[in-house]
Amino acid sequence: MYERREITTQERIEQYAYCEKIKARIAHRPHYALVDTYGCQQNESDSEILRGWLVQCGYELTGDEDRADLIAVNTCAVRAHAEQRVLGNVGALSHKKKKNPDLIVCVGGCMTQQESMKERIRNSFRVVDMVFGPHELWQFPELLWKTMERQGRRGDKSRLISAEPSEGVVAEDLPRQRSGDVKAWLSIMNGCDNFCSYCIVPYVRGRERSRRAADILAEARELVAAGYKDITLLGQNVNSYGKGLEENVDFPDLLRALDEIPGDYVLRFMTSHPKDATDKLFRAMAGSEHCAHHIHLPLQSGSDRILKAMNRHYDRAAYLEKVASARRYMPDLVLTTDIIVGFPGEREEDFSQTLSLVEEVGFDAMFTFIFSPRQGTPAAGMPDPVSREEKQVWFDRLVDTANRISGKKHGAYMGRVCRVLVDGETGQSPYNLSARTKGGRLVHLAGDKSLVGRFMDVRITACNTWALFGEPA
Ligand code: SAH
Ligand code: SF4
Ligand code: F3S
Repeated sequence: MYERREITTQERIEQYAYCEKIKARIAHRPHYALVDTYGCQQNESDSEILRGWLVQCGYELTGDEDRADLIAVNTCAVRAHAEQRVLGNVGALSHKKKKNPDLIVCVGGCMTQQESMKERIRNSFRVVDMVFGPHELWQFPELLWKTMERQGRRGDKSRLISAEPSEGVVAEDLPRQRSGDVKAWLSIMNGCDNFCSYCIVPYVRGRERSRRAADILAEARELVAAGYKDITLLGQNVNSYGKGLEENVDFPDLLRALDEIPGDYVLRFMTSHPKDATDKLFRAMAGSEHCAHHIHLPLQSGSDRILKAMNRHYDRAAYLEKVASARRYMPDLVLTTDIIVGFPGEREEDFSQTLSLVEEVGFDAMFTFIFSPRQGTPAAGMPDPVSREEKQVWFDRLVDTANRISGKKHGAYMGRVCRVLVDGETGQSPYNLSARTKGGRLVHLAGDKSLVGRFMDVRITACNTWALFGEPA
């Protein structure tokens, strides 16, 4: 039985006590830690907690591997490509360890939750001192302390390979080093119950569990008070927020409650499973002061046959109906999506259905992937006769279509004045600042860096497939 488990205050205090022990142990000279993150926004958010713990433990954060005394790699398992990059980079750390034998290498995140991958790291990546799972983040200090205590022992006794099977942990009030001061992640739930047949996430992230609304609201109030202007609510499927909580609250209710927090800020969220995107959600978005009129609504395929095999619980008609309804409530809606090409058994006619649906909807941006078999998922065992080369041809056609459509969409912004939030510097000239429209479109502009964190009106003067370019209006 998979149960929700809330971390108690006592358990949290114990972790802070481990931080103090580590701090004392490394106090004789400055120690530096580097956190390397792969994967989705959920992982970026988790890495902020990792950095929070490391700072509590007395480390200074660095971006320089050569300087680091500790390197923590937060991994992603969603596609083979992500895993290969991680393994390549972790393997390369053995050179660093030769130079600095005291270097501690920790590997966390989704990859560690696959038993076969854990074994592979144990046996073939001796450079790794500690392995911990995503649901063990709350006890990182304890695991790190125990790893430190083992250092210098012989062989495998010097390492701590944890990453026990996933639990339904909900942990509040963990320390966090946010990576910016304009944009903030706000995780509202963890895990996924959908089991799309291609996807590893439910296996590595565990069952879906939501944070209490009061805790989310308190964190959002803190963010607004601290001056954050762009808050993104995170969950694998935010639309099923609230399931399993004692209180009777769903995602639109949560959005409405958050929207009442006074201030000048934008609320975003991702991701929305189409099967759970309701008119109630669209109404809440349309009636809200702060919510961006943007939905990332992963389509995955335009073929009913493939959608069924993917276990997505909607068909082409239902998807189109959701989009039409969302646009009725929000005529200015920005719509983005994810698509998988080359799912097992996909044929030319299925792919054509995807292309035609993409044309019909007219997405503002699309994230496209070639199917990657993930061990343990149903799709990995399905017959898959289409070659990688053929899939690549489909993929290229889809990307061309996506680029043409988003280029056209961007063209429609030309000459318009948009309110944007300046969110950072690009490091390039002449467009040295980056900004986002409320719908989330990227705008480059020239201006003083003191504008970062400010809302302003910008006239769009140029565009390409990926971005808009503008000047102060
Ligand atoms: N929970 C989110 C996103 C999960 S992963 C959602 O449901 O939308 C992000 C995207 O990666 C997915 O939307 C899907 O398009 C893609 N993806 C997931 N598993 C994949 C696989 N095995 N092969 C290729 N793409 C995959
Ligand atoms: Fe994966 Fe589907 Fe869950 Fe998204 S909704 S994380 S694609 S199982
Ligand atoms: Fe990857 Fe885990 Fe996110 S598998 S996409 S980091 S939930």
